[in-house]
Amino acid sequence: MKKMRCAIVGTGVISKLHVQAISDHPEAELVAICDIDLQKAEEWVREFAPKASAYSNHKEMFEKEDIDIASICVPSGLHADVAISAAEAGIHVLCEKPLDIRRDKMAQMIETCRNHNVKLGCVYQRRTLSSAILTRQAIQEGKLGKLVLGDAYLKYYRSPEYFQSAGWRGTWELDGGGALMNQGVHGIDLIQWMVGDIESVFAYAAPLVRDIEVEDTAVVVVKYKNDAFGVIQGTTSVYPGQETRFEIHGEKGSIIFGDSGIKQWKFLESDEPIPQTEKEDKGHYLFVDDMIKAVRENREPLVSGEEARKAVDVILAIYESVKTGKEIKINH
Ligand SMILES: NC(=O)c1ccc[n+]([C@@H]2O[C@H](COP(=O)([O-])OP(=O)(O)OC[C@H]3O[C@@H](n4cnc5c(N)ncnc54)[C@H](O)[C@@H]3O)[C@@H](O)[C@H]2O)c1
Repeated sequence: MKKMRCAIVGTGVISKLHVQAISDHPEAELVAICDIDLQKAEEWVREFAPKASAYSNHKEMFEKEDIDIASICVPSGLHADVAISAAEAGIHVLCEKPLDIRRDKMAQMIETCRNHNVKLGCVYQRRTLSSAILTRQAIQEGKLGKLVLGDAYLKYYRSPEYFQSAGWRGTWELDGGGALMNQGVHGIDLIQWMVGDIESVFAYAAPLVRDIEVEDTAVVVVKYKNDAFGVIQGTTSVYPGQETRFEIHGEKGSIIFGDSGIKQWKFLESDEPIPQTEKEDKGHYLFVDDMIKAVRENREPLVSGEEARKAVDVILAIYESVKTGKEIKINH
């Protein structure tokens, strides 16, 4: 079978996982690497993919190279622009989270991909964790009965040096937000994927500790469309960072899980042992693999553009609530 010709835009922290996943995949080859810093792109070619070509301009790369799938690993506020260029060149898009940081840009990138008949997938790798998959399944099977509370605790530690490590971090322009838009977006995606769509939010958020424009801490009161309530707490300023934790309660059962596995799995109407979930870290490989299959089978990727924008819509509503002091309804 012909290998999928893959390219990467952005050679930073996260793109290493895309390089690794593409290199490990028997049906993929890395043919081009782009970074505005050409020297970095050339270094990566030498180190990871000697047969690939290096570029400093993604449009030129998309025009000149025969590419099937592009991994978008640039700062968040540039995702849509690069994805749109790829789609216009007929290239399928695997975009890092968050999909983008602006509503109009997300809509434009989804529409352009649709109009050019290319797939648009987004990497929210927590959706591949078996604790999350099992929880969602249990909720859908009605094991928790009517849902009452869906809470996400996303408490991390990022040092001042982290924010200095790249100029775009902690800025409205390119990060689009802080503890929620960058780190918390995974957990917000997951809680709404498991518990259900969010109807409205009310929030406080601010940079409480770090010298950044965006929030390093936020608390959010959530109302789900299925009438359940919840809270989301997100921070990047507490030491030590805590493990990500989700607590979902219904009239007939509760599930609590974190990075280290499921802590509580208790139902009124059945006695079940806590499922043992191994700590998986194959996320990026699974997303690259899924994208290849989505293209070959002409189906939607695991997390489509429409799915991926939901968490960003919620976060933008949270920011609006902080600004206005009001409860904000969400329209996807
Ligand atoms: N899935 C995850 O868990 C995860 C983890 C970390 C980062 N991310 C996401 O990945 C993206 C990149 O984050 P990072 O931490 O790797 O950032 P980074 O700063 O380490 O890397 C970004 C790279 O993009 C390059 N770049 C900037 N503008 C460019 C352009 N126009 N064309 C080509 N290259 C350009 C920069 O030179 C830099 O090398 C962000 O959107 C972030 O949210 C996802």
